[in-house]
Amino acid sequence: MNSIQGISFLDLVDRYGTPLYVYDADIIKRQVDRLNNAFHVPHLGIHFACKALNNINILKLLREWGCGLDTVSIQEIWLGLEAGYKASEIIYTPNCVGVDEIEMAIKLGVQVNIDHIETLEYIGSHYPDTKICIRINPHVMAGGNEKISVGHIDSKFGISIYQMPLVLRLVQALKLKINGLHMHTGSDILDPGVFTLASEILFDAARKFPDLEFIDFGSGLKVPYKVDDVSTDVEELGELLSKSFNEFCKEYGRELKLYFEPGKFLVSQSGYFLVKTNVIKQTPSTVFAGVDSGLNHLIRPMFYGSYHSIENISNETGRPRIYNVVGYICETDTFASNRAISEIHPGDILCFKNAGAYCYSMSSNYNSRFRPAEVLIHNSKDYLIRKRETMDDLLRNQIIADL
Ligand code: LLP
Repeated sequence: MNSIQGISFLDLVDRYGTPLYVYDADIIKRQVDRLNNAFHVPHLGIHFACKALNNINILKLLREWGCGLDTVSIQEIWLGLEAGYKASEIIYTPNCVGVDEIEMAIKLGVQVNIDHIETLEYIGSHYPDTKICIRINPHVMAGGNEKISVGHIDSKFGISIYQMPLVLRLVQALKLKINGLHMHTGSDILDPGVFTLASEILFDAARKFPDLEFIDFGSGLKVPYKVDDVSTDVEELGELLSKSFNEFCKEYGRELKLYFEPGKFLVSQSGYFLVKTNVIKQTPSTVFAGVDSGLNHLIRPMFYGSYHSIENISNETGRPRIYNVVGYICETDTFASNRAISEIHPGDILCFKNAGAYCYSMSSNYNSRFRPAEVLIHNSKDYLIRKRETMDDLLRNQIIADL
């Protein structure tokens, strides 16, 4: 793999330098189409979880392709509005934020999704005309690792399904306008049975809310990271869930909208991260390939033990050797251990796959390094969509005090 839409990675590196994030718009569009085609319901709403990738150009394309936006902070809402989304196309699902931020979101007119009973009570009594969605915690254990499993009983997310009687008393007493129910149980969900199980729990809760307009199944759709990796069969999920959803709507007496809010599914596979090898360092036990990046630019392997496939695109047909690919940061920042990669020499360009979701968006300036540039390939043309940072960015908010 050394090019996208006819544009060579090495050519992009010559023009934009490294480290460099590159996104293939065709792959994002393919994933949007796949999801749309998988579901057979009267109204499917796909809200892109922009925490995964927040470049405004990509947000714009996704809107053109019919997506709304899933946001978790007021800043993500502002970004969405900046990208041209109407407030009505944005869902805001905060967790543990102050009520002042939620009030700002309500004033902007976005759909708020509340996951805390006291907040529900406050919003219901101060904003009686606001339609509110409730995030339910169905107490289902799901997700690829502990940090991204959020629907279990010890999780801080959602209102416990066991607290529904209390929620219902509140809804009736304050005449709250509950127009949606939501759940999101985790990311990288291995077992599709989780969606079926959790959807039954949601349907059961939904029967008690007569004014719903939508049910939001969150996300957690798993994409492959390795050859032969397990991934969510969205076509199968679409068949199963469309059937049970349509049956539920019939029983409910109204056509509801079915919402999903994928991050990884839409953008993970569209992204490539290109880095340059600085050194090959042989120690008594290991051959390290040290590159011009680190946990400051792509933290997923160090934070979650995530796997990103790595290819040496400067020597694709070279003899495979075993490497630990590491960064240049002042603490252990291992991208990959004991990985067979075509022989690497200093100066070679390595390409990390699945770099579209939670890679740039989780980057930092640790070690006072600049964040990389981002390039988008669309209609066989490359566009620089974010400049590489400079010293100005590191100094921008620092104030030289008169000490
Ligand atoms: N909806 C809500 C309420 C969420 O919290 C998330 C992700 C999503 C949707 C999108 O989930 P996805 O389709 O991307 O699985 N940084 C981690 C993933 C954290 C996910 C946080 N919430 C990673 O790199 O694996």
